Amino acid sequence: MDDWAAIILAAGKGRRMKSKTPKVLHTIAGREMLCYVSDAIKEVPLPRTWVVVGYNSAEIRQVLGNSVDYVEQTEALGTGHALLQARPLLESQVRHVLVLNGDTPLIQAETLRNIIRHHQDSGATITLLTARGLDPKGLGRVIRNASGQIVAVVEEAEIEKEGKGSDELNGGVYCFKGNWLWPELGNIPRSQNGEYYLTSLIVMAAESNQRIEGVNVGDPMEALGINHRFHLAQAESIVQERLRQRLMLAGVSFIHPPSAFIDANVEIGEDTVIYPNTTIAGKTQIGQGCHIGPNAIITDSVIGNGCRVQASVVEGSILEEGVDVGPFSHIRPQSHIEKGVHIGNFAEVKKSRLGKGTKMGHFSFVGDAIVGENVNIGAGAVTCNFDGIRKHETVIGNDAFIGSDSMLIAPVRVGDRAITGAGSVVNHDVPSDALAVGVPARSRRRKEGRDSPREAK
Ligand code: UD1
Ligand code: MG
Repeated sequence: MDDWAAIILAAGKGRRMKSKTPKVLHTIAGREMLCYVSDAIKEVPLPRTWVVVGYNSAEIRQVLGNSVDYVEQTEALGTGHALLQARPLLESQVRHVLVLNGDTPLIQAETLRNIIRHHQDSGATITLLTARGLDPKGLGRVIRNASGQIVAVVEEAEIEKEGKGSDELNGGVYCFKGNWLWPELGNIPRSQNGEYYLTSLIVMAAESNQRIEGVNVGDPMEALGINHRFHLAQAESIVQERLRQRLMLAGVSFIHPPSAFIDANVEIGEDTVIYPNTTIAGKTQIGQGCHIGPNAIITDSVIGNGCRVQASVVEGSILEEGVDVGPFSHIRPQSHIEKGVHIGNFAEVKKSRLGKGTKMGHFSFVGDAIVGENVNIGAGAVTCNFDGIRKHETVIGNDAFIGSDSMLIAPVRVGDRAITGAGSVVNHDVPSDALAVGVPARSRRRKEGRDSPREAK
């Protein structure tokens, strides 16, 4: 494969998407569609990939980085013109080129291997991927002569004029022999709408008696070119299905697969069960034996083994093993929940660490806090972290007991084993082993055998 290169055409305006985002950077399962195309090429594997970029150059370079090389097309004058821009860089370097539209994210490496193999074995000048069974609207029709040879691809705009139709469609993936392609590329005629169609090369090759081969894609959806939002939604559901299947085969259960939405960068361990209406997004890792959902949304987080997240939202956080959250709680970014923590319902944790075995059962808020191990955070307790201008920190020691409805006015520290009474407003530090009660709370030393949490009223 050393004498091959791949070229992805990605400089088009994608007007039919009606979007400020370049078409090829729209995401499917949280990943830009162009990445799927470049991944499939890497998986073949082909040694080098060039991407033709244009008005969207900076954004595409940011996404693909230096995993590929770039060619600039300063004006989007059509797919043929896009390919022409690669000529100065490539014509002396490679014998064959694989050209792909950047809007074909469902294409699989195996299909690319097939078309490459067929191209090499047949010695064709052009080999193109064809599909039957797609909605033909907007696609080029493959025209064959009486003996079955491909003689043209007719674009939809030209069909009426030419009066030609066919149910065999052009899938937008081609292999070319370089020594024929590069000299001919400059000869593509301008179409009526002012564009230079890459597909004109087919008729040009046929007219000079070059061998043109077609390889049928098998599953036509693999050749789906994303031209508008309906295509994008179709691709999303196919990619979701592929991702779920892969996870199921790796030991993950889905109670209702179609209502689970999993991003491409998500990893899930064996024996985890995903319940209905669950979204797991971004770069998220979920351990083994977890119960996630129903109605959970987890983004960019690490969830340890044996966790349970029910009807709750977890964002940008770490849950160590055996943590349970929900229903109806919210773990906001930069939280670290240690082993065995219980977070019940209507609780919010923001940018905080909760130590091993801590319990936060009902209606409470912990923000900008460091909470020790085996702390009990009573119903309605709040770390009052914001003074209207700045955020402040709350530190709670190990084995402390924060009584129901305690208001901890940050910055404030509550020592190890200290107790705050129900309804107390704590605006001074509470020493270790002290009991703080009242509004504002006053601290006194806890008496041996008395002042158990139950007595601190
Ligand atoms: C193209 C084919 C059509 C085929 C279909 C398969 C042509 C003329 N038509 O149509 O036969 O059935 O794909 O999906 O090729 N691009 C550039 N520069 C440009 C224009 C486009 O780089 O000036 C890129 C786009 O970013 C896109 C790809 O080329 O990734 C295809 O362009 P698009 O406009 O989607 O072509 P289709 O109309 O889908
Ligand atoms: Mg297209």
